[in-house]
Amino acid sequence: MVSSLLFVFALTGAAHAYSFPDCVGGPLANTTVCDTSASPTTRAKALIAMFTTAELVANTVNMSPGVSRLGLPAYNWWSEALHGVAGSPGVSFAPAGQDFSFATSFPGPILMSAAFDDELIKEIATVISTEARAFNNAKRAGLDYFTPNINPFRDPRWGRGQETPGEDPLRVSKYVFSLINGLQGGIDPPLLKIAADCKHFAGYDIENWEGNERFSFNAVISQQDLSSYYLPPFQACVRDAKVGSVMCSYNAVNGIPSCADTYLLQTILRDFWGFDDERWVTSDCDAVGNFIDHKFSPDLPHAAATGIKAGTDVDCGSTYANNLGAALNQSLLEVSDIQRALTRQYASLVRLGYFDPAASQPFRQLAWTDVNTDTAQNLAYQAAVEGIVLLKNNGVLPLSASTKKLAFIGPWADATSQMQGNYQGTAPFLISPFAAAKTARFDATLTAGTGINSNNASGFAAAIAAARAADAVIYAGGIDDSIEAEAHDRDTIVWPGNQLDLIGQLAALGKPLVVLQFGGGQVDDAALKSNANVSAILWGGYPGQSGGTAVVDILSGKVSPAGRLVTTQYPASYVDAVPMTDMSLRPSDTNPGRTYKWYTGTPTYEFGTGLSYTSFSLAVSRTAKTSYNIQALISAGQAAGGPLDLALFDTFEVAVSNTGKVASDYVVLGFVKTTAGPGPFPKKELVGYARVKGVGAGRRATASLAVTLGAIARTGDDGSASLYPGEYTLLLDVPTGATHSFQLTGTQAQITKWPADPSAS
Ligand SMILES: *[C@@H]1O[C@H](CO)[C@@H](O)[C@H](O)[C@H]1NC(C)=O
Ligand SMILES: *[C@@H]1O[C@H](CO)[C@@H](O)[C@H](O)[C@H]1NC(C)=O
Ligand SMILES: *[C@@H]1O[C@H](CO)[C@@H](O)[C@H](O)[C@H]1NC(C)=O
Ligand SMILES: *[C@@H]1O[C@H](CO)[C@@H](O)[C@H](O)[C@H]1NC(C)=O
Repeated sequence: MVSSLLFVFALTGAAHAYSFPDCVGGPLANTTVCDTSASPTTRAKALIAMFTTAELVANTVNMSPGVSRLGLPAYNWWSEALHGVAGSPGVSFAPAGQDFSFATSFPGPILMSAAFDDELIKEIATVISTEARAFNNAKRAGLDYFTPNINPFRDPRWGRGQETPGEDPLRVSKYVFSLINGLQGGIDPPLLKIAADCKHFAGYDIENWEGNERFSFNAVISQQDLSSYYLPPFQACVRDAKVGSVMCSYNAVNGIPSCADTYLLQTILRDFWGFDDERWVTSDCDAVGNFIDHKFSPDLPHAAATGIKAGTDVDCGSTYANNLGAALNQSLLEVSDIQRALTRQYASLVRLGYFDPAASQPFRQLAWTDVNTDTAQNLAYQAAVEGIVLLKNNGVLPLSASTKKLAFIGPWADATSQMQGNYQGTAPFLISPFAAAKTARFDATLTAGTGINSNNASGFAAAIAAARAADAVIYAGGIDDSIEAEAHDRDTIVWPGNQLDLIGQLAALGKPLVVLQFGGGQVDDAALKSNANVSAILWGGYPGQSGGTAVVDILSGKVSPAGRLVTTQYPASYVDAVPMTDMSLRPSDTNPGRTYKWYTGTPTYEFGTGLSYTSFSLAVSRTAKTSYNIQALISAGQAAGGPLDLALFDTFEVAVSNTGKVASDYVVLGFVKTTAGPGPFPKKELVGYARVKGVGAGRRATASLAVTLGAIARTGDDGSASLYPGEYTLLLDVPTGATHSFQLTGTQAQITKWPADPSAS
């Protein structure tokens, strides 16, 4: 039952014509579904009540045929828009040269996240949903998007880590909140702009590692790690940002396939987080069929019945449509189980205005002129330039005015489609680093030198000759989608092929040498870090349509870099120290610990690393409190209303002084370290951040770090979070540049009671 759906659709680009139901002259006119004064659920129920059993069964899959006798059109629930409207079964781009032949292509999420700029994420998501609506109005895309991917990037080998906002659950949570806000047109607005889909629920971060296939992998996860690491992004997405749908994952969690798991889909998702009946769950594509791979269901009718009863409302695939009829005959479920699933789906479409008059809806007026506007182009550039991270600089950057002749070398030097990463659409243009250098003040040459994963050194001589003839050498390489991808984890995190050999030979020339490291996952830069002849290293992720311009503006000093790594760059030996399948975060005899919180070794570059062209000094406001009473915090949080974990602990005012010579943005990162509460203790945990913009040389700005009770709480074995009395230290910047100590007094108090897994022994 191995799924190849995604690849088949991606290749054929199955076009799908959309239309809206006719609520004026069609059979649905004057029925309750077309009554704009009724509630979404009432309207959806009235529609579903008109379906025959065969019509119910047929419409349980992502490619809904609709019900033609009712004038209900076919609809594809599966469109994609990870970093721009993207090629997918529900999206079709027009041929080149025509309207709707492209959409703005933003950087991959891992780079956008590195900007630590939540307002930017919201603005980008607002553009993406505008373009999605324009495509929908042209019948070229749906209203439902299977995006974003918010599984924290736990292991550096994961092929899809590039799709995520990184390894830290707080960073991922804040990213997804801002993103959903922009995609859906607000936090739970009455009229949804589009419906997003947070995936993959839950514990999905292995593709195919040493024979462990995602379709049958069982992720063994403690309640402590589930509650404090794997699920906070989903809580932010569902409970706080009110996403329209959620995708259950291929893998099992603690023995139960996610799409069959009532603990995940009912107890946590619906009962604990309040995912209501205007929202639906889709399976990952063919994940219900994969119950067979998990040896969880004896046959497909049982798999289909189990999935829909557990709360997987839509089957991305065909298992439901092909098997629910037989399952009904065998009394494996009731018709009402199918009606419940379809009511949720169509209630969501009601909220998207699908059954409402176009004239009353602002989004139905969006058109091709709203796609790739100047604003959108600027945002794509801004996201890239804000996210790029300077890892090393011996002073060669920014390039001096006398540095004119640049030798661009390496497999990313003239990158175009590579810059989009995966889940991409057709970009309006793709500006490579080399192309951008030529339009800037540089005289640039281009020599490949080698490929991404090649051991053929026949191109080295030409590269070295080009380097000798230049004032400075720009090597652009790393990894790309041929090394990390969906269905493709890495076995190693070393630079692939002979790229390091070539960089070493270029370094031996003793010229200014800048290494541009691309790709979403990190590669171990230890050899470059220690080589004094490697002048500088920049990490550029997948920088999108204006990626080359962003890189060159940083090289030239037009912009000072301020991005920060959102993952740990581990030494290459990390992959030998822990199997990918070990899901635990905390260190043990067989696990050196995961992420900056728990890793006991020395990273090559730490989470949060990022240099600038100027220097900053930090100071926590002298009026910051040094003692807080836990019971007073809880009372204040209860008085404010809402979940206690979101209640404010304190807002730390941080003075940020630019003590250098050029203006720059600056990202303030705030971590907390403590030995209060249950051991073992993480090295530190991110509790807040802020990006201050354009701080002039010699100027001072103030950053406000708002820290919630949830951020300083600690999670126990059962997954519940509490505040603990003890000593705490706020650590600012990486490496730590300023600290502020405070204590919590009073007695331990629980702020979140985690729902127990009834099936756990
Ligand atoms: C809907 O109701 C209106 C008013 O009663 C009527 O004029 C119209 O013909 C009806 N439309 C359909 C399709 O039944
Ligand atoms: C269900 O049973 C009915 C009556 O026996 C039969 O006509 C129908 O073909 C069966 N449907 C499926 C999908 O097995
Ligand atoms: C190495 O690359 C060169 C240039 O593309 C090619 O001519 C040669 O056949 C390659 N050698 C091998 C062993 O693949
Ligand atoms: C660094 O460059 C100098 C020439 O300036 C050269 O002599 C030396 O071998 C180089 N070192 C390395 C590690 O390549």
